Amino acid sequence: MNIILLYCRAGFEGECSQEIQEKASYAGVFGYCKTNKGQGFVEFVLTDAKDVKKVFKQVALNELIFTRQWARVNEPLENVSREDRVQPIIDFLLSSGQGVCGKVSVDCPDSEGTANLKTFARKFTAPISKALRNNGLLTPKQDPNLDVLCLFFSDFDKVYIGELDNKNSSPDHLGISRLKFPKGAPSRSTLKLEEAWRTFFHPDEWYDLLGGHQKAVDLGACPGGWTWQLVNQGMDVFSVDHGPMDDDLMKSGHVTHVLEDGFVYKPAKNVDWMVCDIVDKPKRVSSMIIDWLVGGYCTKTVFNLKLPMKKRYQEVQECLQLIQTALSENGQRCRIQAKHLYHDREEITCFIQVI
Ligand SMILES: C[S@@+](CC[C@H](N)C(=O)[O-])C[C@H]1O[C@@H](n2cnc3c(N)ncnc32)[C@H](O)[C@@H]1O
Repeated sequence: MNIILLYCRAGFEGECSQEIQEKASYAGVFGYCKTNKGQGFVEFVLTDAKDVKKVFKQVALNELIFTRQWARVNEPLENVSREDRVQPIIDFLLSSGQGVCGKVSVDCPDSEGTANLKTFARKFTAPISKALRNNGLLTPKQDPNLDVLCLFFSDFDKVYIGELDNKNSSPDHLGISRLKFPKGAPSRSTLKLEEAWRTFFHPDEWYDLLGGHQKAVDLGACPGGWTWQLVNQGMDVFSVDHGPMDDDLMKSGHVTHVLEDGFVYKPAKNVDWMVCDIVDKPKRVSSMIIDWLVGGYCTKTVFNLKLPMKKRYQEVQECLQLIQTALSENGQRCRIQAKHLYHDREEITCFIQVI
């Protein structure tokens, strides 16, 4: 396997490519990226195929901001017969010596015009699984200790065959966190904060980070989708925005609506959490985050960085670097994670915890 396939939001292939090249080179692995704008994935072709596992050992998926999912794969099978796609895949696997897998994931790009391909991928899972089992290539029951066989159809007749690393890949199909809109939440933005928590936190740390009746500030809160999530975790929230808050949420008794400028407001008493969904210049937001963390007003924060039109990757790196430098100059150690979430469009979402 000499290719790493990286799945990203369509339109962000450039950022995804820059990022993997940078991270892989830190791990001493080199190669080049092949992609087309809007296709929703990038091929990172390694100079030396022997290095492929090294990347998965040294770079964690959660360090990659613009990659949702990744797989190590072979050169694709092309012109696969639409009459019988099963046999060529079985033949390939029997001759490649890839070994038995514990599960199969039939993948395709999440980009414009791939709805039919997605339907096909879903329907293909049952017949290919049956054939794999009949040939001893798939365990009878799912085995989480084995890698997942990845069949990535970039088109109906072109498939990349490889594997999803069992310790370093997303458990979600295509790396997409499909969340149900919670009943009673006042806006669709609510899903973004929920996705952020699910992405950044291990289930074991959920209670430590969110539970136990914490205090929070929500900057740019209206109509209250993020506040709703905080209240749902048992928090009391100061929701800062000049706009109107959702009536039912206000009736919960856990929300204080503060009609102030989010860039100026500071709480009278320090809080546990500050979240910010204000759309503004990323450097302005970053410097406000620094004020809060260095000033000790909160120890945990989730916020968005709106991406500029150009040099998006560079801007993100500069903002994260600014925050990191300010905290370390102040003697504060922190955990920083950032991701281009499924529910994000032209922004990324960041989580910082001072530890
Ligand atoms: C994307 S919306 C927030 C949606 C909200 N997170 C939710 O889940 O319902 C951005 C909000 O930021 C508010 N906003 C913009 N600039 C602000 C500022 N300087 N101070 C406070 N709020 C601001 C806007 O009024 C708007 O309600």
